[in-house]
Amino acid sequence: MTSHLRKVELHCHLEGAAAPALTLDQARKYNIDITPYLRDGAYVWHDFASFLECYDKVSEVYKTEGDYALLTETYLAELSGIGTIYSELIVSPDHGKRIGLGADAYIEGVCEGIRRAKAKSGIEARLIVTGERHFGPESVIGAAEYAAKAKNPLITGFNLAGEERMGRVADYARAFDIARDAGLGLTIHAGEVCGAFSVEDALNDVRPARIGHGVRAIESTDLVKRLADLGTVLEVCPGSNIALKVFPDFASHPLRKLKEAGVRVTISSDDPPFFHTSLKREYELASDAFGFSDAEIDNLTRTGIEAAFVDDDTRRALLAKL
Ligand code: HPA
Ligand code: ZN
Repeated sequence: MTSHLRKVELHCHLEGAAAPALTLDQARKYNIDITPYLRDGAYVWHDFASFLECYDKVSEVYKTEGDYALLTETYLAELSGIGTIYSELIVSPDHGKRIGLGADAYIEGVCEGIRRAKAKSGIEARLIVTGERHFGPESVIGAAEYAAKAKNPLITGFNLAGEERMGRVADYARAFDIARDAGLGLTIHAGEVCGAFSVEDALNDVRPARIGHGVRAIESTDLVKRLADLGTVLEVCPGSNIALKVFPDFASHPLRKLKEAGVRVTISSDDPPFFHTSLKREYELASDAFGFSDAEIDNLTRTGIEAAFVDDDTRRALLAKL
């Protein structure tokens, strides 16, 4: 039973949190045939590449500033309903551009959703702008420049997501330099689809405070020690990892081993309905599949607040709520 615990989420892709019912409403509204990607109330994909394709297609049924406000408010309401006090949402202004809405209107819609959710429940949220590897280094640099110039107090971090097998981290290092110079918190997807080398690349070429997933660091004892020594925080998404077959089952998932080796770990849902999960379920898994006590789970949540991309006053206020 984890329903009484306060919760925090550091790693959730906004469009990846879209409930199938909402996506269906949107598809009907715009007369889009979404059936290749959404059937019987579930998103349709079979491996990482087809997941990314499905994700991009689903994202296209959210078209206006109002659609993004609704999507954001709906997800944050779900989170606050289960006791979540803080959420970081991974967003892609480039996606706003690609669908013809424009980056500013896309971000403004998302920010409106955050304001509405906060007014109703008090939930605190921030945005992590992401570049996507499969759109190439130039597009990722564009995303970093957008985040750096936006001067939007809700945009506090920069990430790199997408097809991890495309290029090496070094190809995207300049984007992270731009984001770092702008004072944004840095996190990067690594060690999910690719092995330990991708986490090493991330540490060498980006020096991020956090790593999205990072779980395949477990393949190298030296690397696990390096993560522990550096204090790098892993945004671990167990349900996502099992859905994408990064590990065959929860018994072989390294969350507990990483924690016991001194690595700072947190739990998140990634793209919840795509991976048949939710933040509620991730907290239940922490207890039921990984055997963490309430105190240990609170410790994961505390690590999440400590690693959140927020100012010190907000961090103090969040810690006081734990
Ligand atoms: N991993 C990598 N890239 C992504 C994801 C993900 O889970 N969701 C959207 N882009
Ligand atoms: Zn992710």
